[in-house]
Amino acid sequence: MQVLEKEIPIIEPVKTGKKFFLETYGCQMNFSDSEIVASILKKEGYDITSEESSADVILINTCAIRENVEQKTRQRLTEFKALKKERPSLVIGVLGCMAERLKTKLLEEEKLVDMVVGPDAYRSIPGLIEEVDNGQKAINVLLSREETYADISPVRLSENGITAFISITRGCDNMCTFCVVPFTRGRERSRDPQTIVNEAKDLFERGFREVTLLGQNVDSYLWYGGGLKKDFDKATDEQQNSAVNFAKLLELVAQVSPLLRIRFSTSNPQDMTDEVLHMMVKYENICRYIHLPMQSGSTRVLKQMNRGYDREKYLDRIRAIRNIIPGCGVSTDIISGFCTETEDEHKETLSLMEEVAFDYAYMFKYSERPGTLAAKRLTDDVPEDIKSRRLQEIVDLHRKHANESNQNNVGKVYEVLVESSSKKSPNDLFGRSTYNKSIVFPREHYKPGDYVKVKVLYCTSGTLIGEAVK
Ligand code: SAH
Ligand code: F3S
Repeated sequence: MQVLEKEIPIIEPVKTGKKFFLETYGCQMNFSDSEIVASILKKEGYDITSEESSADVILINTCAIRENVEQKTRQRLTEFKALKKERPSLVIGVLGCMAERLKTKLLEEEKLVDMVVGPDAYRSIPGLIEEVDNGQKAINVLLSREETYADISPVRLSENGITAFISITRGCDNMCTFCVVPFTRGRERSRDPQTIVNEAKDLFERGFREVTLLGQNVDSYLWYGGGLKKDFDKATDEQQNSAVNFAKLLELVAQVSPLLRIRFSTSNPQDMTDEVLHMMVKYENICRYIHLPMQSGSTRVLKQMNRGYDREKYLDRIRAIRNIIPGCGVSTDIISGFCTETEDEHKETLSLMEEVAFDYAYMFKYSERPGTLAAKRLTDDVPEDIKSRRLQEIVDLHRKHANESNQNNVGKVYEVLVESSSKKSPNDLFGRSTYNKSIVFPREHYKPGDYVKVKVLYCTSGTLIGEAVK
């Protein structure tokens, strides 16, 4: 394995006296990216502010996955515009997937946006801000074949100081027909495992107790000394033999400390191996929880989606999880009303949900995204009211399963990693079980970062309520 280790001298940045405000939408990967952006700007002497009214630079890190999330961003931009009218020197930048999707169009459509930066171009933000200060509009939406920001130690923006995200891959090669991600985030690249382990060690030393490894398809992680996933075949024998796959990466991170919990997202039914599941069993600190998007229960629809698995294969992976890791928490993503989906095919989605009984689900109405394969080749022909009704049936069924899953936990004792005070009461603490269930219990003498055995007394729709057991 090629290990890149350089002594990097610590140089205090020269303060610019300028402040930036950074707002983030979308997936965990976006939140992780915002920490990279914050780190890049801090190094250049900028200070972060939580008040947009006192910022010199406002950045909005965007998501393009569904139309409604883009609308929200546009609404926010109109609010920022009002600030800009009062203070014309204010720099407004749009980052991330929406920036990549719309490119120069965004500068034309949203006249008061000064800067547009795609997910692989964050290192250029300080230079682009200077260009704007010099009176130009600035844009960098180049997608990269190498950028993983591996050397950047992200500033942690999450408030609890206990849980953190670590990106392990960027981009996606899967080309699901409904999905805009391969176009906004580019080709799949894996990050040097040594830099991932170093980041986990650093976090642990600073008091963090849980890391979530992030990728669009973590099971596809493969490091062979750099390069794109799709070029693995062209690597030398030596590179191929010493390659690190996702199971091995999990092991390397799990060995940082038994007190550091490991989570990961997103798993992919076509790539998730038994080797990964066995590795989860081998290390108790790898959490017993898998997010495995199904999208649909119909083999024909899955084929239209280009998901690379059918209903049977999905069930095979669920059975493997349940055999190898009994009790493992499982969550999923489901889309209602994808192009050409019939009523019977929708019922297949409901019946697959019945077979699995997910602990948690993220459920969406299909939203056509310009430029995707579905937009080009398929017709978005399920009427809006039918999409909504199908979604409601999916949501109702899931609610029943989630409730049963929570009820099953009542009376049992779980080890909880305490993350913070409960939002509702300062006298209670909030944490999660290895199965990713949220648990609230009386604080007593416990504090964030502690592992506490908690007996579940009862549950509300989303939370288990318990008390510490001695
Ligand atoms: N990489 C992940 C998902 C990334 S996007 C995977 O393997 O599935 C997160 C979720 O958004 C997807 O799982 C899908 O359920 C949903 N999604 C993506 N594109 C969508 C679209 N065009 N309309 C509705 N939902 C969509
Ligand atoms: Fe999107 Fe499919 Fe990749 S949902 S992120 S193209 S795995």
